[in-house]
Amino acid sequence: MRRRRVNGNPLTKHLPVKTIAFRLTMSFVFIIVIISAIFTAVGLHFIADRTMTEAQIKVRNDLNAAREIYQGNLHNIHQTVRFSAERFYLRNALIERDVSRATGELAKTLTQEALDVLIVTDDKGVVLYRAHNPALRGDGLSSDLLNAVLDQHIPASATTIISANELRRESASLAERAYMRYVDTPRARPTEEVEQTAGMMLEAAAPIFDYENNLIGVLLGGVLLNQHYDIVDKIKQTVYRGMQYRNKDVGTATIFQGDVRISTNVLSTDGTRAIGTRIAEAVYHRVVEKGEPWIDRAYVVNDWYITAYEPIRDVTGRIVGILYVGMLEAPYSDVRRRTTLLFLSIALGGMIVAVALSYLVSSRVTVPVKKLVRASREVADGNLETRVTIRSDRELAELADAFNSMAAALQTRDEKLKEFATRKIMESERLAVIGKLAADVAHELNNPLQGIVTYSNLMLEKLPAEDACVPSIEKIVKQASRCTIIVRGLLDFARQRKPNKRHSDINAVVSDCMSLVEHRAVFHNIKLIKKLSGGLPKVIVDPSQMEQVFVNLIMNAAEAMDGSGRLTVSTRLDPTGGFVEMDFADTGHGISEENIERIFDPFFTTKEAGKGTGLGLAISYGIVKEHEGSISAVSRVGKGATFTVRLPVAPTEEG
Ligand SMILES: Nc1ncnc2c1ncn2[C@@H]1O[C@H](COP(=O)(O)OP(=O)(O)OP(=O)(O)O)[C@@H](O)[C@H]1O
Ligand SMILES: [Mg+2]
Repeated sequence: MRRRRVNGNPLTKHLPVKTIAFRLTMSFVFIIVIISAIFTAVGLHFIADRTMTEAQIKVRNDLNAAREIYQGNLHNIHQTVRFSAERFYLRNALIERDVSRATGELAKTLTQEALDVLIVTDDKGVVLYRAHNPALRGDGLSSDLLNAVLDQHIPASATTIISANELRRESASLAERAYMRYVDTPRARPTEEVEQTAGMMLEAAAPIFDYENNLIGVLLGGVLLNQHYDIVDKIKQTVYRGMQYRNKDVGTATIFQGDVRISTNVLSTDGTRAIGTRIAEAVYHRVVEKGEPWIDRAYVVNDWYITAYEPIRDVTGRIVGILYVGMLEAPYSDVRRRTTLLFLSIALGGMIVAVALSYLVSSRVTVPVKKLVRASREVADGNLETRVTIRSDRELAELADAFNSMAAALQTRDEKLKEFATRKIMESERLAVIGKLAADVAHELNNPLQGIVTYSNLMLEKLPAEDACVPSIEKIVKQASRCTIIVRGLLDFARQRKPNKRHSDINAVVSDCMSLVEHRAVFHNIKLIKKLSGGLPKVIVDPSQMEQVFVNLIMNAAEAMDGSGRLTVSTRLDPTGGFVEMDFADTGHGISEENIERIFDPFFTTKEAGKGTGLGLAISYGIVKEHEGSISAVSRVGKGATFTVRLPVAPTEEG
């Protein structure tokens, strides 16, 4: 059997189950996103850091190799010059003060060793012979390297800066090689100047001694580094093996004179060697001004490189140039980019899997919850046979068990209620039939009984008092009168008489009743206490019917007190203001728990047979109901009973 849905029942409203699943999934997703983000960030940072460190270690090693090659070249020149200075032809030529005897050999050395400069001076540093320009001689050479050899009489070699004048004295082509117009590139160190005329040279000088070991001259040889690419190309070849990335050389090497590239294999955008371009300001500051190496990324000509720079010093220790190696950053940044992408896709993949998993997990909770909600709705709709089975989760299974026990308990109670109601209905139907029958019988009996009483009385009047029949006839009168009372009670109970209602003062009705009964013998030893509230609103009642009710209650109380005790009658307005209440509280024997259920039933009485009809309270109940009021009783056995009558306050009052 399905009952009609009750509007506003909280269980029938839509529960936010979807929202729970959604929130659960979202919480999971939130946690996963945060964790993945942290891991990705940390991972990427670690990888970037690691790649950069690796690259820097590599470029530092490359710089070491480059230095070796650079120093190797210098050393070769050193050895060439030293050996030539010790050669006897040079010694003899100088001893005999005729350099022309050695020029042939010297010219050969110049070409064979690919030297740009080969000069012989006397022991004062005055030029005796210039292999490149033999016509020019007799001038003094001012060179720190030469001075060092003249001073210390031992061979020396170093990087030196050669002025344009000095170069011109050697040859116009050398001066031309050294000459450079500055080329502007992005991020290059700004300068006011536009050109450079001096050159930078790998130079070696060795003393020439006579047979007594006296210094008789110095041999000086060198290679101009400007636009001389052997060293840088060898570095590139040795260290980087000509590796290319996207058609660009990965490895590059450069020799700077001051801040200018004079020998390099870094290319300009037009594909030529980036000669005449200059270093970045920050690198210059670190390497030239502070004399420290730079190992970091740097913008070289037109691209980012992972670079290593270190100062080149002359014989006095002054920084005159920079040696540089660098690797294109692009391969590294591409690896980094690819790793980032890989990391992000792994994180994304992980996230998708996690979302799917979290959805599965949350549905493990929400599906049973939905089941429970659906079952609750069914129960609310009256289907008490609904049961839920949940196996997925122990706690939810317990909840389902609890729900099932509740539904079972509700079902049992419902069945009991139905049974009780059916019994009650049957009982009242039976009572109604009995009542109707009783009323019919009473009606039929009333007239004959009246006849019996009237004629018995007539007989008593006619017969002399000493007649032997008189006592019997008196008994007939008495019993017949009793029957009349019972019959009247039955008629009262069964009567469908409409009450004659009017606005009435209930206090007045109660007072009337009390004065009606208080003179009766039963009240001699009973204290009657009146506690009537003043100013009570009027009620709409039939006063005579109400009197009947109150007299019934008062008489019952008197009977329960068996002649002595206290009856308190009080009236008041109930807290809602909608009802007037009357209490009849006695100190009688009270009513037992089992009887209190039945006192309003017709014919229920505890009085001995023939004493009470058991209709008093049943009639009172009917009258009060007819007035839309209620009557109830509370009692403690041995202490007394209190009957309360509630009557509705009249909607409008009349004076
Ligand atoms: N104030 C009371 N104290 C104790 N018991 C009471 C009280 N009022 C009623 N009863 C109980 O309720 C029963 C039914 O009362 P009701 O007035 O209907 O009938 P009755 O008094 O027995 O008979 P009748 O009213 O015809 O004399 C009484 O027999 C009594 O047992
Ligand atoms: Mg009674």
